[in-house]
Amino acid sequence: MQSDPARRAAELRELLHRYAYYYYVLSTPLVSDAEFDQLYNELRQIEEEHPELITPDSPTQRAGSDLSEEFPKVRHPAPILSLSNAFSEQDLIAWEERNLRLLPAGTKLSYTLEPKLDGLTVVLEYANGVLVRAATRGNGIIGDDVTANVRTIRSVPLRIPLNPTGPKPPERLFVRGEILFLKHDFEALNQRQIEAGLPVYVNARNAASGAVKQKDSRITANRPLSAFFYGIVDSVGITLDKQWDILEYLRDMGFPIAPGSELFPTLSDIIQQIPTWESRRDSLDFEIDGIVVKVNDLRIAAELGVVGKDPRGAIAYKFPPREARTRLTAVQVNVGRTGRVVPNAVLEPVFIGGVTVSNASLHNYDMVKKLDIRIGDIVVVQRSGDVIPYVVGPVVELRDGDEIPITPPERCPFCETPLVQEEGAVDYLCPNRYCPERIYRQVEFFVSRGAMDIEGMGPQTVRTLIDKGFIRDTADIFTLQREPLLELERFGEKKVDNLLAAIEAARHRPLAQLITALGIPGVGSTVAAVLADRYGSIEALEKASVEELQDIEGIGPVLAPGIANWFADPFNRQLLDKMRAAGVNMRAEEKQKKSNSLDGLTFVLTGTLPNLTRDEATKLIEAHGGRVSSSVSKKTSYVVVGDSPGSKADKAAKLGVPMIGEEELRKLAGE
Ligand code: IVH
Repeated sequence: MQSDPARRAAELRELLHRYAYYYYVLSTPLVSDAEFDQLYNELRQIEEEHPELITPDSPTQRAGSDLSEEFPKVRHPAPILSLSNAFSEQDLIAWEERNLRLLPAGTKLSYTLEPKLDGLTVVLEYANGVLVRAATRGNGIIGDDVTANVRTIRSVPLRIPLNPTGPKPPERLFVRGEILFLKHDFEALNQRQIEAGLPVYVNARNAASGAVKQKDSRITANRPLSAFFYGIVDSVGITLDKQWDILEYLRDMGFPIAPGSELFPTLSDIIQQIPTWESRRDSLDFEIDGIVVKVNDLRIAAELGVVGKDPRGAIAYKFPPREARTRLTAVQVNVGRTGRVVPNAVLEPVFIGGVTVSNASLHNYDMVKKLDIRIGDIVVVQRSGDVIPYVVGPVVELRDGDEIPITPPERCPFCETPLVQEEGAVDYLCPNRYCPERIYRQVEFFVSRGAMDIEGMGPQTVRTLIDKGFIRDTADIFTLQREPLLELERFGEKKVDNLLAAIEAARHRPLAQLITALGIPGVGSTVAAVLADRYGSIEALEKASVEELQDIEGIGPVLAPGIANWFADPFNRQLLDKMRAAGVNMRAEEKQKKSNSLDGLTFVLTGTLPNLTRDEATKLIEAHGGRVSSSVSKKTSYVVVGDSPGSKADKAAKLGVPMIGEEELRKLAGE
């Protein structure tokens, strides 16, 4: 490499161009950020040593830009700056020393500590309190106008102050923040992708960036994005001279501020916080890749000035990367309970951020093909939070030619059934309902703690019961008999009796637990509880129409037909019949009703009620025999209207549905 810098530089330019295209334009990065940075730095170093090799199109010749031709452009009122990085305590100390040398002797610096949010920068403009524009960072001077998309994000205030009794809004305000997915929203989004047979998003930040740069804002609206704010880029009508005051001001105006932001009197206080932040990283509901330390006094920060695009008054302390390189030695094919076939990477064990990793997700075969991952490749593996580690991509330069391409199997490795790929879906499926692996996964889920909670049915026991033909579906669990079980190897009396007692107990589990255990796509314990509550029995649920299901709060246009189809499927009906015959409880407990005063009435709730949360209002209505629905129609009896009601109130007015307040609701209920 060293011997031919020209060739290497050309190679690096090509790679970086390709990676940048995938990253910025397609929002599906081929390599990790660390990998990209490493190649970029290598190129910059070669160019530093051999300036004659710099070409005008070298990626080093432009500052990062994510401008897209599809959006109108917005000029920022001031440059949208970046941050320099520190990787150690020493780096932070050296940063402070450099700054102190530039300031009058005896200057004392206090600092804010903020989480370094791993999202996408956005700049919002408010005119007299109204959101008028939202722009991406772009090249720092000019950004993409993504107003329509950003308006769909619920935590972005459309008007400030959010609280009408709050301080008067300034004439003009440009705030800076970060758009991201909360971890739980990202997981839910991926769950929906899986259920729809679409590829999962690998990386939350890229998914957030992709969502913000959609041409059609309805698509953005369907992605549960969030935002946190931390800076004022420019303003007319206010003066704040401390970073901490900015955070407080933004909070007072109704902007979400990242939890954990704090003011400290000295740098050493900040340094002491680093281990705490590293260890709480996983338990936060948002991804962070470090902490940001900012000089609190903004006049001093301004005095310190800017180097390139990094202000001297702030620095990012980056956590060590949670990724490593290792060899991919094999691919294991897994089949899930719905028949989904997923490739998993078997790796040479490698230590990543405190954990030894020897298996990682390869997403799906489409992704394997797109990333051109081969067996024998050195791959980059990333781990974030508690989600399973995943393969980011191969290190192509390290190939020796012996690598073997990965192709999807033609048949299910467990039952030999030819795999199918549904139209438009990325996943391959084993269509065999009696595939022993599918049954194994179904039973494993059915007996698990969050579902029917049957103790004593560990993996080994379940395998044996399936192999010996005792269980061919989940309903068979309830027909297991003592004598035949005793004949199995390693099934002693005590084990069998305990197992049968656990199964007996499961026969009487609440309806919601049974619904969860059925494994209906998209129906977790929350939706199951709603269904159990609303229908009161499997029989009633089996008859529910798509329209009726969709009318329930929390059940949308994807879930409703999914549930109805599941219950319409003869295979599932037969399963339920078998369970019914085996005495499995299929009814909810009678609800404690206070009265019948609201019998036959349907209510829709909108806005914030003075003394009741949404849940409490729902409980009150149901306790008196009424029903709560999520959308207003001619069939709605009353719309209960609270503070800042939504469009439901408008619809009620249009349809002539009577609107009442909390007070009248209580009167109707007779409370
Ligand atoms: S301040 C001059 N504060 O990190 C102000 N940035 O690596 C510069 N970021 O481009 C930015 N959390 O997108 C700031 N609390 C925070 C941040 C933050 C995340 C991002 C931001 C910036 C990047 C720099």
